[in-house]
Amino acid sequence: MNPSTDTDRNAANQGVGQAPDDNAIQRVLVLELVRVTEAAAIAAAQLIGRGDEKAADAAAVEAMRRAFDNLYMDGTVVIGEGERDEAPMLFIGEKVGIGKGPQIDIALDPLEGTTITAKAGPNALAVLAAAEKGCLLNAPDVYMDKLAVGPGYPEGIIDLAKSATENVMAVAAAKGVKPSEINVCVLDRPRHFELIAELRGIGCGVVLIGDGDVAGVIAVTDEETTIDMYMGQGGAPEGVLAAAALRCVGGQFNGRLVFRNDDEKARAKKWGITDLNRIYKLEDLAKGDCIFAATGVTSGSLLDGVKRRRRLTGEVYMTTESVVMRASSGTVRWIKGEHRIA
Ligand code: FBP
Repeated sequence: MNPSTDTDRNAANQGVGQAPDDNAIQRVLVLELVRVTEAAAIAAAQLIGRGDEKAADAAAVEAMRRAFDNLYMDGTVVIGEGERDEAPMLFIGEKVGIGKGPQIDIALDPLEGTTITAKAGPNALAVLAAAEKGCLLNAPDVYMDKLAVGPGYPEGIIDLAKSATENVMAVAAAKGVKPSEINVCVLDRPRHFELIAELRGIGCGVVLIGDGDVAGVIAVTDEETTIDMYMGQGGAPEGVLAAAALRCVGGQFNGRLVFRNDDEKARAKKWGITDLNRIYKLEDLAKGDCIFAATGVTSGSLLDGVKRRRRLTGEVYMTTESVVMRASSGTVRWIKGEHRIA
């Protein structure tokens, strides 16, 4: 390669001017993608607790869109803010990056937890996953039944085709504890009343969250949370994002799309999904090498939120905490940022 622009030169310096190889996705993107989630989180954070979900989301979307502009990649949004006619930015199929470099598919949620942000609750994130072209399930915006467990269990220990009780029993037996010592995270929704009753009926602790099931699923990978399992229905796009994270840090995930009407089934067919009852495992949702990046908007079990601080000199800056991880290497990087704003 004969670098002709600054961007080309930077890319060549990183050894990625040639055809994408195994290293391309990491070397170009791992740290760059954190800038993208940081930008979205900082923008959304200006609206924490302001009661305006739409404004918080719009700020995050715009900032994330801008942050993608200089990335050396030929990126395509495969999970985004909606279809082209529904979303002005970061719509499905939109190209991101400078249009040169590795072909990368991106799943994103600039603000996972719009209501959380509006109410200043815990666990709102700016989040994305990146993988080589064709490696992320292009999930339609429908619900997904989700079941997840952390790392260290025998492969196949969880199975969405089985009841909640059977799954808890299997995990409890493998852990060597009683079902009453298992904690399950569930979204607090009326559609989960029966599930919650079943889990409490066998003595489980049920950790109810108001929103934000990407963080809820990832919580099973962190012993500090004391959450052993995640169960219940949430957004399918969020399921793909959570699966990408589990591909990097370990754990098992089952997901099954839920269709409430013919329109949703038609959407899925348009996306090339033919088996509507399929149970997807991690590799079906995010295969090959992939990167997961998230920055906390509000503080939660995974990350600290954005904080506005002032130095004695009067300088105002924002602090961020992010995590970026890569499936093929298993590397997990925790990144604290200080961003001067005035
Ligand atoms: P938003 O960021 O769009 O507000 O989504 C938050 C969320 O809680 C997701 O984490 C979850 O997958 C989904 O909403 C659940 O959907 P619903 O609120 O319809 O139950």
